Amino acid sequence: MANVAVIGAQWGDEGKGKVVDWLASRADIVVRFQGGHNAGHTLVVGSQTYKLSLLPSGLARGKLGIIGNGVVIDPEALLAEIERVRGQGLTVTPQTLRIADNAALILPLHAALDRARETARADRKIGTTGRGIGPAYEDKVARRAIRMCDLAEPETLSEKLDELLLHHNTLLQGLGAPVFEKQALLDRLLELAPLLLPYAEPVWERLDEARRAGRRILFEGAQAVMLDVDHGTYPFVTSSNTVAATAAAGTGMGPASVGFVLGIAKAYCTRVGSGPFPTELTDATGALLGDRGREFGTVTGRRRRCGWFDAALVRQAVKVGGIQGLALTKLDVLDGLKELRLGVGYRIGGETLRHLPAGMRAQAAAEPIYETMEGWSGSTHGARTWVELPAQALKYVRRIEELVEAPVTLLSTSPERDDTILMRDPFED
Ligand code: GDP
Ligand code: IMO
Ligand code: MG
Repeated sequence: MANVAVIGAQWGDEGKGKVVDWLASRADIVVRFQGGHNAGHTLVVGSQTYKLSLLPSGLARGKLGIIGNGVVIDPEALLAEIERVRGQGLTVTPQTLRIADNAALILPLHAALDRARETARADRKIGTTGRGIGPAYEDKVARRAIRMCDLAEPETLSEKLDELLLHHNTLLQGLGAPVFEKQALLDRLLELAPLLLPYAEPVWERLDEARRAGRRILFEGAQAVMLDVDHGTYPFVTSSNTVAATAAAGTGMGPASVGFVLGIAKAYCTRVGSGPFPTELTDATGALLGDRGREFGTVTGRRRRCGWFDAALVRQAVKVGGIQGLALTKLDVLDGLKELRLGVGYRIGGETLRHLPAGMRAQAAAEPIYETMEGWSGSTHGARTWVELPAQALKYVRRIEELVEAPVTLLSTSPERDDTILMRDPFED
């Protein structure tokens, strides 16, 4: 019996939340292992729509949710999200949610620095979510982060705030942004401590016990391989490793525990924020995909950029992310299009490449090489079995499998939980 890790194979918003929610019916525990409330995972269950940023998507199935040490946690955002989903009828208590005591916290000064730096970058901005993700990970690596466990030690909090403020206020001042005052931050953290500490524990221990007892663990990735800080379109990336290997370090488990790696990809491609996007469509077809796919950021509300499926890019994500099977989502958005294109490589200067190179200028100059396919006239919307799919839609899926060098093991045909076609159960692999 394997565990499963779900990761994005493009630039995020592939439908990880929907797929994790669907697979969670077969799992015992759902664990987040990286990212923070920059993520926005949408679950549609009947008439309810849940938008989760920090909470593991398994909570909508009543499964135990764990936030691993690799996640950066904004306490205010977490508590607000808990209240919001409780209002929608979900149960979130210290019995159903556990949080790594060694996870790093995001404070208001991180979001302030994130935004001040983006403003200063002007037309070179990354297009971050402005939620302090980058600065929080920087502090973690720089060994000055405040962690969940510090909330139980007022002296530690006080000492760490001195160091943090020395660093951040210097930067904020230099950027012309308002500085932060220690006492207000300390008082607020001490107020939040009794609300958060009941959730905190060494989650690695619970996960180890669960693993030994044969429980099924589902690792829920945020962002995607092309936003990975090493493997993505750097510097237009997020500040964590998003590949499946992170599921181990980000929870306190060994690499062998991660299990089957399921990559999620849209049947076309989208991106929020700045950065290279070779198959981007800025014409009417791009607008059509955006309208039909309701491509607005869950977190930012910004319109997502849309383009053709880039098979060369997903192939690269399959390789560096260790993806063993692909869940293809939003096939229904392509219904009725006369002609479809698949990116199969890039032309850069006089050179032809099958992968996106690392250099910034090379990435920006990459022109896609396309293969054209006929579309289908029938509907895939809401299909729950393969036999319901038009023959040409199946052909499109098969061609993607060949090009990305990974099997499509799951298909999603609408936002609704059950409009899903399973080819191969990843827990049985
Ligand atoms: P995530 O960040 O990867 O979890 O994805 P988001 O939730 O941010 O964005 C995916 C959007 O597509 C959400 O609004 C989903 O409800 C929706 N969605 C997911 N799967 C499908 C699908 O197969 N078809 C359609 N039309 N929408 C889908
Ligand atoms: P989910 O989990 C799409 C993008 C931002 C920006 C870059 C860096 O819903 O797929 P950050 O705030 O992380 O420093 O921003 O990464 N980004 C996402 N794009 N989906 C996400 O999450 C994203 N999380 C961050 O738009 O370009
Ligand atoms: Mg999202």
